[in-house]
Amino acid sequence: MTAAIPFYSFTYQNEQVKAEMQQALLDVFDSAWYVLGERVAKFEKEYAAYLGVKHCIGVGNGLDALKISLRALGIGQGDEVIVPANTYIATLLAVSETGALPVLVDPNPDTFNIDPSKITAKITAKTKAIIPVHLYGLPCEMDAITDIANRYGLFLVEDNAQATGSVYKGQKTGSLGHLNAHSFYPTKNLGCLGDGGAITTNDDDLAHQVRMLRNYGSEQKYKNERLGYNSRLDEIQAAALSVKLPFIDRWRAEKALLADVYHSKLSDVRHLQLPAEVHHSLLHSHHLFVIKSNYRDALSAYLKEQGVDTLIHYPIPAYSQQAYRNAGFAPEEYPVTERLTAEVLSLPLYPGMKLEQVEQVCSLIRKFTF
Ligand SMILES: Cc1ncc(COP(=O)(O)O)c(C=O)c1O
Repeated sequence: MTAAIPFYSFTYQNEQVKAEMQQALLDVFDSAWYVLGERVAKFEKEYAAYLGVKHCIGVGNGLDALKISLRALGIGQGDEVIVPANTYIATLLAVSETGALPVLVDPNPDTFNIDPSKITAKITAKTKAIIPVHLYGLPCEMDAITDIANRYGLFLVEDNAQATGSVYKGQKTGSLGHLNAHSFYPTKNLGCLGDGGAITTNDDDLAHQVRMLRNYGSEQKYKNERLGYNSRLDEIQAAALSVKLPFIDRWRAEKALLADVYHSKLSDVRHLQLPAEVHHSLLHSHHLFVIKSNYRDALSAYLKEQGVDTLIHYPIPAYSQQAYRNAGFAPEEYPVTERLTAEVLSLPLYPGMKLEQVEQVCSLIRKFTF
């Protein structure tokens, strides 16, 4: 067996930012100002500029970013929100937390993203919004989805948790909806040192609503206009994010080169389906490199034996989780998600992964027999 290959590693990223990060964290400590201070304001400005949007509001995590976005849009009890059936449970939980109903749409079997051609059949008089999720970093078909939203007067809230750095027809994802939710969970494309998230928008009033909702419903101390939350990006996390933001396009490009190697070395392996070819007008940020195989479980066990860690995103669909046992979702309505659940396998891919490591994974996969 050759050297073990982890699913993810922070070593390279951390080495690149270490000196600057240590200084930034020490500066926060010395500043004696830890919540909603100048570092959060600075990062909000930098991230808004990076995405090409007017406003960025830092919040506690990606789930809160989604939930607060929906609340800012006035969505709650009695409303329905269209979400992909094939997503991390957070997308559904955010809708449920507002009291609204998540209505699920099966994905396109090639892109794994929400299938726009299946959305209109799910729209009712109660539908208020669509949440496209750029799963694994591949942008959704935003023109088609935006058309539907406009036609039916629905809000669009991008779930950009997995897609920082992705581009759709010249615009960064996370800049395309009325409100857009971002996660800075450590292993995301832009990760902080704990939990963190943000909401972006070009709408001044929505930005104001979000600023209130993240801070007890108040933008002015001791004046509470709405029933809000305590969900603020910490100064420590904002400082860390400001250090890492200038690096993320380079890290994305480095991952893209490795993803190309996976593609070229695995394209003729018959039992595999590789991630969809990316149209030239899109930039995939490769949060995850997800293949499909009818022999997924055997392949993953074999790779593990050979020292290669893999993961499954996701082993149980959100709609089949215990948490949703009383929601009345019928798995047979989501045949594509059901198939993906049985067949997807995420291969190691992270900034600083070596070309030889990718080649080693490919060579092992090519030797796999079933
Ligand atoms: C698609 C998607 N949406 C939302 C979230 C929630 O982000 P967080 O973990 O920061 O709450 C995640 C995080 O894993 C995610 O993958």
